[in-house]
This record gives sequence, C-alpha cells and structure tokens, in this order.
Amino acid sequence: MPPALPAGDPPPRDGRLPNPALDELPERPFGVYVHVPFCAARCGYCDFNTYTAAELGPSVSRGGYADTVLMELHLARHVLRGDVPPASTIFFGGGTPTVLPADHLALVVREIGDLFGLTEDVEITTEANPESVTPGYFARLRDAGFTRVSIGMQSAVPRVLEVLDRQHSPGRPEEAVAEAHAAGFEHVNLDLIYGAPYETETDWQASLDAAIAAGPDHVSAYALVVEQGTALARQVAQGVLPAPDDDVLADRYAQADETLSRAGFQWYEVSNWARSPAARCRHNALYWQDANWWGLGPGAHSHVGGVRWWNVKHPVRYAALLESGRSPAAARELLDDNARLMERIMLGIRLREGLSMIDVPRDSHEKVPQLVTWGLADPDAFDGGRIVLTQRGRLLADAVVRDLLG
Ligand SMILES: C[S@@+](CC[C@H](N)C(=O)[O-])C[C@H]1O[C@@H](n2cnc3c(N)ncnc32)[C@H](O)[C@@H]1O
Ligand code: SF4
Repeated sequence: MPPALPAGDPPPRDGRLPNPALDELPERPFGVYVHVPFCAARCGYCDFNTYTAAELGPSVSRGGYADTVLMELHLARHVLRGDVPPASTIFFGGGTPTVLPADHLALVVREIGDLFGLTEDVEITTEANPESVTPGYFARLRDAGFTRVSIGMQSAVPRVLEVLDRQHSPGRPEEAVAEAHAAGFEHVNLDLIYGAPYETETDWQASLDAAIAAGPDHVSAYALVVEQGTALARQVAQGVLPAPDDDVLADRYAQADETLSRAGFQWYEVSNWARSPAARCRHNALYWQDANWWGLGPGAHSHVGGVRWWNVKHPVRYAALLESGRSPAAARELLDDNARLMERIMLGIRLREGLSMIDVPRDSHEKVPQLVTWGLADPDAFDGGRIVLTQRGRLLADAVVRDLLG
C-alpha cells in the first residue's frame, strides 16, 4: 500500500499515480463515470455540481463539452499505463447528460472503447430527465451501445413536482419508460424522492404505484435531503416550507419497501430495488465494493487502488486546466488499509449481501448479537456468519455502523 497522506493533498500536475495503486488495477473491475454538469433549470433541492446556461454564460459551450472530456480521457489512458482491464461499466450522470446530443455521448463511449476496451457484457447507463428525451434520442443511445437508462421521475403528483421545481409534466416519466422499452432498452430505472414538504402518504403511494405501472426493472427511492445552500434550504430556514420529518421519512421508506416487494422488486442496497439480479446497477457496485473507476468531468471523483481524487468543480477551470496540458484533479488522498476496511464496512452493510463477520474488526464482534436482539440485523444471516440489515436496520444504517465501529 502507498503511505497514507493527510486528506486532500495537492495531486501532481500530470495526474500520475503511485505504482502500488496501479498494480491493483488488474485485480478488480474497472469502470468510467462521465459527469455532465448542465441542466435546463435547477431544482430547488439539488446541490449537485451542475449549471444552467444562464449561470455559465457564454464561457462554456455545451457543444464543445464532449471534446473537453475526451482530453481527460486521453490523460486517463496515459496515467493508467499498463495492465488496465477493459471497462465493464460506463455511467453518464449529472446534471443532465441528455441535454447533450446523443451523438456526443456516443463519441465518448466509442473513445472509451478504443482506449481501454469494453467487456463483452459492458453496462452503459445514462441518467435522463423525462423532458429531455424522445424516441429518436433513445434509439440513438441504443445504436451507440447504451444498455440502461435512469430516468428522474421523483413523483407522480403535480403538487409535489411543483414543490420540487421539476420541469416535466406528470405522466411524462411513464411515457419515457415506454419509449425506452420501444427503443430496445431492457434495463430502465426510475428515481423517486419521498418526504417532500406537504407530500402525504397517499401521494407517495400514488407515485410508487405509477412508477411500478410504468414497468421499469429498477427503482431508486431517496429520502429528500435539505442540502445547505439550496433554494429548498432557504425556504425551510425562512419557514416558507416545513423540513422533512424523520418519523415520516421512516414510514415512507417502509411503505416503499413493502409496495415494491409486493410488486416483485427486491432491495439490494438501502435505496435501490431491482426486479432481478440482472437488473441491478453494476456501476454502483464498483463504488460499493472498493473497485476502480475513473470519473471524467468537473467535480468527478475517481478511485484507483486506494488513491481517491476529485476534479476542480467549475467547468471553466476544468477546461482551462486540460487545455494547458494539466490534470484537472483538485486534490487527492491515499487511503491506508484501515481506511479502506472502514469504507468497505460502511458501504457493505447497506447491501443485501451484507457483511461477512470476517470483515468486521474482532473487537466489534461482541456488539453484533445486540443488533439482532434490537431487530436491526437478520438472525438467520447472523447464524451464517453475516450481518444483513432488516428493514428497521436499513433505516438506521448509519447509526448501526457508528455503533459497530465506535
Ligand atoms: C444527480 S440527479 C440526476 C438526475 C437527473 N438530472 C434528474 O434530475 O432527473 C440523480 C438523482 O438524485 C436524487 N437527488 C438529487 N438531489 C437530492 C436531494 N437533495 N435529496 C434526495 N434525492 C436527491 C434525485 O432523485 C435525482 O434523480
Ligand atoms: S435534480 Fe437533476 S435536473 Fe434537477 S438540478 Fe439536480 S441534476 Fe439538474
């Protein structure tokens, strides 16, 4: 392992990585994340690294963005010299990747294939806002080799969509799922948010029912988080909107889990349900299982063999660094074995497979029977030497980890 450095050290200007980190590349799956930092409008709750055209002005052209990303991709190929496995997953996230022409996404996919190779069963996903896609767009994505789309539905209820500042009309996400299926996409995800101000239990049930009826094979359901600096946080601080209530969020989670389970979905990560193992998102599994990925784009995070780094956030600075032949990385940290173990525990406990007791530090073993007694961990899994969270345990996953490692 490389020696541990304090968090957030400046990375080398050429982005090179220590040899011990590169040596781990052949041992684990490798994926590529592509961040697209553009949105037509900003939703009041969202603090992702994304910009509207008005926020960016003429300084960044969406039309030239794919070419800038390709510069970082060539840097990646240079830095990851030697034995890199072919990419097994590619994920375009945002922002709204689908504000770019499908041909630009296709160009990036092609170049990743040319530089790194793709596994035969490569998973290629893009996030998509419902109002930004058409049947023709989906068809071009399929032609480019995309295998999966993840559509931001959030809610089926007009009032809730309005509180969330969403641009699409009710019903459009369901139409988009049908269009994706018609274009040949077998794997379609719908993202939902619960706990928005004034959302009732009946509203949430209507959203779950509409999502299921649309026929996706994957659903992600997230509790609304009031992120600092967002319009939502200001409205909550001024008393214009009520903050989400923890007890209500817990009830909504249970409602989601029960409704989705009845409809044939199985949870495989705290916020993710899939109709079958083949419908699970393999790219997210890279993050959860300490594998290697390169994140392209402003603010994107990467991880290779215990070295984690992240790019400068602003698209103008990002492009300027690449154009001057420098790495766009802003800072990096080297994780020692213990830090990597802690991360594996924090992320692994959120998975249906749970954690093997072998991965849990010995001095924490005595705390596990108590988790079972409190109804937080599954007794049968415990008998088999694993910690698997119950529905109640999933609600308290962060507290369980704190208890286990504290
Ligand atoms: C980065 S967004 C990109 C997806 C796409 N732009 C869209 O909005 O449809 C991915 C997902 O994160 C979730 N999300 C973003 N901000 C959130 C927040 N503050 N609380 C809960 N979920 C959030 C939403 O469900 C969203 O679909
Ligand atoms: S939720 Fe999606 S569409 Fe809304 S601002 Fe965030 S990234 Fe953009």
